[in-house]
Formats: sequence, C-alpha cells, structure tokens
Amino acid sequence: MRPLGSSFFAVVVAAGVGERMNAALPKQYLPLLGKPVLAHTLEAFERFEPVTEVTVVIHPLHEKIFEREILERYRFRKVRRYVFGGATRQDSVYEGVKVYRDHPEDFVLIHDGVRPLVGEEVLWRCVEGLRKHEAICVAIPSVDTLKLSLDGQTVQKTLDRRTVWRAQTPQAFRVGLILQAFEQARKEGFQGTDDASLVERLGVPVYLVLGSEENLKITTPQDFLLAEEMLRFRVRWSRTG
Ligand code: C5P
Repeated sequence: MRPLGSSFFAVVVAAGVGERMNAALPKQYLPLLGKPVLAHTLEAFERFEPVTEVTVVIHPLHEKIFEREILERYRFRKVRRYVFGGATRQDSVYEGVKVYRDHPEDFVLIHDGVRPLVGEEVLWRCVEGLRKHEAICVAIPSVDTLKLSLDGQTVQKTLDRRTVWRAQTPQAFRVGLILQAFEQARKEGFQGTDDASLVERLGVPVYLVLGSEENLKITTPQDFLLAEEMLRFRVRWSRTG
C-alpha cells in the first residue's frame, strides 16, 4: 500500500473541435442546464478534495471563449493553468501531462472535458486504486453482446461479454509511468484511442475500477437531453435527500 501524501493532479482534455455535432461551438462549450459542459466537468474536480490542481487542455481557437465563459465566469480555484492541445486526443493529453514532468512519483487523473457527470464515487475509486497500483482505468461491464467485424458488414466473431469492459475516463497513472508510455508510443508512431492502451503496450498491468452509466461522454444531441435529465434528477435528489 502506497503511503498517503502523494499529490493528485488532473488533466482535463477539451481541445477537440467537435465535428460530430455540427454545431458552431464544440460540445464542451455548449450549455447543459445553462452552464457549459466543461464548467460542469471542472466543478466535479473542484469539489473532489484529493485533487489539488487541474490543468485544462484547450484548442487555441477557443482561448477567448475559454477565458471568458469558463475561467472568468466560474473562477475555479484549482484550475492553475491551461495549455494548447494537438491534432489528436493523444497529442492533447501528452501536452497536459507534460506539465507534471517534475512530479514523476505523484499521480495524474486524465479526464475528458465532455464527461461532465463524473461522480465523486468514481473519482474516489481512482484514488483508492492508485494507492495499490500505478495504472487505473475506469470502465463498466458491457450489458450488450459485442460483435467483432473487420469489414463493417459481416461478423467475424462474437466476444464473450463477461470479459469485455467499456472504458471511460478518468484513467489515472503515476506521472512517470504515463510519460514513459507516451514517449514510447510517440517513438513507435502508435496512436491509441485512450491512455491506458499506451501503458498496456509497456506490459504494465492496468487495473479496472468500476465506472458509471451516468459518466457518459457527450457525443450526440441525444446525449445532451440524457445528461440534462440526469442532472435534474441529481438536483432534485440533493434537495430531498
Ligand atoms: O474526440 P473524442 O470524443 O475522443 O474526445 C474526447 C475528449 O478529448 C474531448 O473532451 C475532446 O475535447 C478531447 N480532445 C482533445 N484534443 C483532440 C481531440 C479530442 O483534447 N485533438
């Protein structure tokens, strides 16, 4: 068991340009019950006591809106800096994590800016996981049966859903380990769709902790409706609970 006393940082990536929603602004800046998605996400870290500092990764095109609509409006205490991201999510995360390169023995929680409903219990599972392991992936078991199709038309294989998990974020790591994984991937030209896959390539075990269906990644207009409904439910529940 690792001694308490290590620091926990968060890197929130929000440098995507959001082609899928066809909106003028990418989804992280669109309102969810009147507040930008990204502000909800940053609030979750603001409330979560073990994380002491947050770095946000943004797109240079959105610097003004980020400063005005997020930083000035909400004045998050833990958001110490922002950096510019890159062409892919992987490049953006790397820019954020590099900020902590002088803290190789501390920990970083990497989170998508478009997962505004991440709950405190999921964040706690990450931090608890890091007391024993160097690499943590939040995920949920698949309730659907999953098919593998190499051509998008026919099924090559049915996967055993008891062995399949759907990865979410945060994914959390010892800083020195995730930097090594990014540097190795860069050297070998590997692009992954999440951060844990880069650590898996090093042969280092990544431990699963349970995520939540609420922790959805806002991708489509329907996701906004769903997220708003869940937020309304939370507000009602906190008033009556
Ligand atoms: O594109 P995807 O849905 O994987 O995006 C997940 C998160 O990664 C979003 O919060 C998005 O803003 C961020 N991202 C980024 N830099 C990119 C692409 C995506 O920070 N180049």
